[in-house]
Amino acid sequence: MQFQVAWHVYIEKHRYKYLALYHALRDSIVAGSLAHGTRLPASRELADLYEISRGVVSQVYEMLTAEGYLAAEVGRGTFVSYQRDAAESDEQERPPILLSDWGQRVTGHRLRDTVSGETYRYDYTIGQPLAEAFPFEEWNRALYASIREIAEIEGEPAYEPQGYRPLREAIARDLRKSRGMTVQPEDIVIVNGSSQAIALVAQLLINPGDTVVMEDPTYGGIREAISAVGGLAAGSPVDENGILVRDWDSRLLFVTPGRQFPTGAVLSLERRQEILRWATKQNAVIVEDDYDSEFRRRGRPIEPLKVLDRHERVVYIGTFSKTMYADLRIGYVVLPSWLREPFCKARQLYEPRPTALVQQHALAKFMNNGQYERHLRRMKRLYARKHRALWTALTEKMSEVFHWVESDAGLHIFGRWKGSREQFTAFRRACLAAGVRFPDASMYYTDPEATPAVCLGFPRLTEEELKAGVDVMHAIWKQR
Ligand SMILES: Cc1ncc(COP(=O)(O)O)c(C=O)c1O
Repeated sequence: MQFQVAWHVYIEKHRYKYLALYHALRDSIVAGSLAHGTRLPASRELADLYEISRGVVSQVYEMLTAEGYLAAEVGRGTFVSYQRDAAESDEQERPPILLSDWGQRVTGHRLRDTVSGETYRYDYTIGQPLAEAFPFEEWNRALYASIREIAEIEGEPAYEPQGYRPLREAIARDLRKSRGMTVQPEDIVIVNGSSQAIALVAQLLINPGDTVVMEDPTYGGIREAISAVGGLAAGSPVDENGILVRDWDSRLLFVTPGRQFPTGAVLSLERRQEILRWATKQNAVIVEDDYDSEFRRRGRPIEPLKVLDRHERVVYIGTFSKTMYADLRIGYVVLPSWLREPFCKARQLYEPRPTALVQQHALAKFMNNGQYERHLRRMKRLYARKHRALWTALTEKMSEVFHWVESDAGLHIFGRWKGSREQFTAFRRACLAAGVRFPDASMYYTDPEATPAVCLGFPRLTEEELKAGVDVMHAIWKQR
């Protein structure tokens, strides 16, 4: 099959192979070189041809089918269904409608849909901690009471731009108790998940061409928030004590000190102090993304940078995505006083009304009546058992091929592959075929090809399943 433009051009232009394939196919369909009715190769064939996984090909076929470019016919295959109309003929080519610079940068990002349609027996996917012990009944009661309460208000419910005040009060109390942080409800703004805070802070503080420091590896949402606004992301390597601090020529740093994402390293106290000294010298701002340090298995957490900050340099971001569930979409940001008003006005652009008001009410109740704390205690015990089961299985059976990184908090285990990229790709493909799925953590690195790695999430599998999945991986490795 011939694409409109050579494959290597797409691969160079797009960070992810699935995006390269998506654009290669779509351009060829729109340009007419893949004409209406053309049968596309089977996903396995295309996967082998371009050295990508079958899952990626299926995902791209599904995206193009959903958009109407392709149609799948059961038992016959996938066909081009897009028809160029006469007005689109080459003689009357319309000038293209161009996206803004921002639009074009955003178009380069990966769409995070999880609708693969495939289910796996042992699925170690990260990011959705809803486990069997979630207090569904109690949470349901809090939600129901909140819906009624809001419905009974006469006229418009009053709300503040920072979010529902009792929730901000509850968060301030929780931060004081669990993090030693002295903050007032006025310092807090409720957001639609920490992702929204990351994107807004990037918009408010970065001009095109600014160098912005981030950890390497790092969370994709941070990398994309920087690149969307035209910032130049400078990755700084990470070791077992967190990010290596340099005299960066920059005015902004994104960092995950509580538990580095994805490696799990905790930033040492010396490095925290170094970072704060650097920020003072550079007149820089630090964005502290504390997304996942509630579930500690040992010891007390080191104080957040926000607690050590004496000069209003730290923007602290937290989320309920790990302690409750990611689809709740409630996060919060603790802002320095100089950033409060611009931040609220920027958020209002995207959400003129509060984020998930019913859920904000329910969460405030849940926190105020002690249910949230009880839930955390229960989950902590459950996650500690699951972590132990997975850690033991991985270190006993899969240490020949992975270097597992020990971490005393969080909901996944990170491992660096010891072999080649080719071996890793073959191993992962064989695992998927055997019903074992785990995220390829290479994508969190600036150079994904050079650093094969995995993240294994454990909340959603039972202890038996966690171990059985590792047995399957072990058998696959031994049979190679
Ligand atoms: C490091 C990090 N920061 C932020 C987020 C975003 O979380 P949310 O927008 O769900 O609060 C995630 C999600 O997993 C993450 O891993």
